[in-house]
Amino acid sequence: MNKKILVTGGTGYIGSHTVVELLNKNYDVVIADNLSNSYQSVVDAIEKITGVKPVFEKTELTDQEQTQKLFEKHSDLAGIIHFAALKAVGESVEKPLDYYHNNLSSLINILRGALKHNISNFVFSSSCTVYGQPDVLPVKETSPIQPALSPYGNTKQIGEEIITDFAAANHFKAILLRYFNPIGAHPSALIGELPLGAPNNLVPLITQTAIGKRPLLKVFGTDYNTPDGTCIRDYIHVVDLAKAHIIALERMLENRQKMNVEVFNLGTGNGFSVLEVINAFEKNTGIKLNYVNTSRRPGDIEKIWADTTYANTELGWKAEESLDEMVLSAWRWECHLKESF
Ligand code: WQD
Repeated sequence: MNKKILVTGGTGYIGSHTVVELLNKNYDVVIADNLSNSYQSVVDAIEKITGVKPVFEKTELTDQEQTQKLFEKHSDLAGIIHFAALKAVGESVEKPLDYYHNNLSSLINILRGALKHNISNFVFSSSCTVYGQPDVLPVKETSPIQPALSPYGNTKQIGEEIITDFAAANHFKAILLRYFNPIGAHPSALIGELPLGAPNNLVPLITQTAIGKRPLLKVFGTDYNTPDGTCIRDYIHVVDLAKAHIIALERMLENRQKMNVEVFNLGTGNGFSVLEVINAFEKNTGIKLNYVNTSRRPGDIEKIWADTTYANTELGWKAEESLDEMVLSAWRWECHLKESF
């Protein structure tokens, strides 16, 4: 009998790639998503890639009754991977109540369901934004947590605290995964980053500019204290990130955890600047990108990249894909979108 896993936010960017990896490893998957920032057609794309159609339950996870019904219908879950959240840093500054309500009440409803149905294997989608601008780089899991720079980042910090307190009270197991900058798309080009409306993130804006959906790309700031003056981030291929979730889940399923709650940085350990990403895109696609240098974007930190030692040695996971493959896969996805719509 295959183990059944609940993936909240499973039609979203990282969630859909994780569902593919779960199905490839013969798990049964239930996706719960409210489709506020994704499309149900992603379920069909996942089926095309894996040959298996995951169960899809349209669910408003901020609604306690709907969430209870979800758990009653699927009371035989072996684990939960919780992605569902609003995640646009800039939007969270404009609409803080939406972010605190959505991200925290959905988490609490999911934890209530997990407690009631005794599901104690819980993977949480966290973020490197909890570190703010680290004083020391690369940043370790033990690096100090800085005051959040946005309500989005604060919901991730508070989410980690809620899970930690809940786990202590209920002998519950959880693994918190702090993502750096996920980019790229599945090699099939059938799933990828598909934001409703205008994207906020660098790479979809690069590919949309290159394909002609946008006239130009703005480079936010060239006066940072970095080699080429632009911000540095630790970009990680979304498939590498997805695979880490399966490894974390199986660490719990096989009782290999050393603490009730464990935290891992999911990055490559390499930092690349905005201009280096643009250059990698131009080199790999042969497309000259139309971009202009503009002023800094409020809220941006200057540079961050991960110390991945703990995830490499303790989790037994290491990111494998290069920046070249990341930008190429993102471009193939953008081209697929153009053919599909
Ligand atoms: C990257 C760099 C921008 C757009 C993201 C997610 C956040 C978290 C961490 C998961 C910055 C520059 C961008 C543009 C630009 N992930 N840029 N022109 O801000 O690091 O945060 O990763 O939790 O949720 O949002 O990513 O892609 O927005 O920016 O110059 O048009 O690209 O200034 O230096 P960021 P990003």
